[in-house]
Amino acid sequence: MATGNRYLGLIDKFRAVLPVSDSTRLISIGEGNTPLIKLENIPALTGKNVDIYVKYEGLNPTGSFKDRGMTMAVTKAVEEGSKAIICASTGNTSASAAAYAARAGIKAFVLIPEGKIALGKLAQAMMHGAEIIQIKGNFDHGMQLVKDVAEHAPVTIVNSINPYRIQGQKTAAYEIVEALGKVPDYHCLPVGNAGNITAHWLGYTEMGKISGDHPIMVGYQAAGAAPFLKGEMIDDPETVATAIRIGRPQSWDQAWAAQKESGGWFDLLSDEEILAAQKLLSEKEGIFCEPASAASVGGVLRDIKNGKIPEGSTIVCTLTGHGLKDPDTAISQCAVNPQAIDASLDAVKAAILDKL
Ligand code: F0G
Repeated sequence: MATGNRYLGLIDKFRAVLPVSDSTRLISIGEGNTPLIKLENIPALTGKNVDIYVKYEGLNPTGSFKDRGMTMAVTKAVEEGSKAIICASTGNTSASAAAYAARAGIKAFVLIPEGKIALGKLAQAMMHGAEIIQIKGNFDHGMQLVKDVAEHAPVTIVNSINPYRIQGQKTAAYEIVEALGKVPDYHCLPVGNAGNITAHWLGYTEMGKISGDHPIMVGYQAAGAAPFLKGEMIDDPETVATAIRIGRPQSWDQAWAAQKESGGWFDLLSDEEILAAQKLLSEKEGIFCEPASAASVGGVLRDIKNGKIPEGSTIVCTLTGHGLKDPDTAISQCAVNPQAIDASLDAVKAAILDKL
């Protein structure tokens, strides 16, 4: 029950459309309720008249959209008596699972691809006390292993094949419609394992049951990890956007359904295009997201310029994770390293005067 104006997390807010009862113990860290920010400087660069909003999911408690699904998955795992959860992850799911398990007082096992997860995500899983299992393989291998081992051990899988994850994540669509006061024309997001596009589509179709209103769903992938563009699963996904370094998306059929039923499409971006979009958002809007997240904005700008998204459209892009998750990639794309100078007024004056 909400008390005063205090926000008690997304399950509390959206309990009418989520599978919980009044007696369910909610495992929440205040996730959801993220800002929908209108871009002020970037749209003009397209030369077209469009409204672009970003849903800044990096402002969730562990810095990614995963918290929306994790609060539900862990709440239900605890309700069902589970003492341990397990997931495969490119990083963010492991950070989120670790945090919510800590909050619930249960154990988290996370399988991650050795050397292929961003530093901040690893730090989170370690700090929250998860059992971290690095595998000499990629996310897809980890996912298969998780499914196999769950048949032999009393652990609850909290990847997005867990239906409660999708239920929690659909709340992002509800928040967007509430904030905009209408359904956007286009909803664009990066696609990896395809749980998030599935969840958004579920949210929009639930809300649009009577009116039939829904956005056109557009999914962007990294060129080296683009099974939806290839039309089949791929074996060796590779991209700088490690969050979406996935070749065998688990929600394959559901993502195709979202694309077809909404009249949308999939497209891909090179690593260079993804990083350029990440930098653009940082430099022009003050919004720092991780590389995978920027795929949505990079793709949208291209599709506005080429006319696939028409003038007058209201577009929402999901920024799935915070830029601080991956400091290495961020720093490596900034040309100039800050130089150390003498701690004197003269030296500081010299350093700024020719830059004004
Ligand atoms: N963006 C970020 C930052 C992600 O971490 C992920 C997925 C996606 C986009 C793609 O979302 O899988 O629902 O299509 N990360 C997962 C993980 C796989 O393990 O953290 P999706």
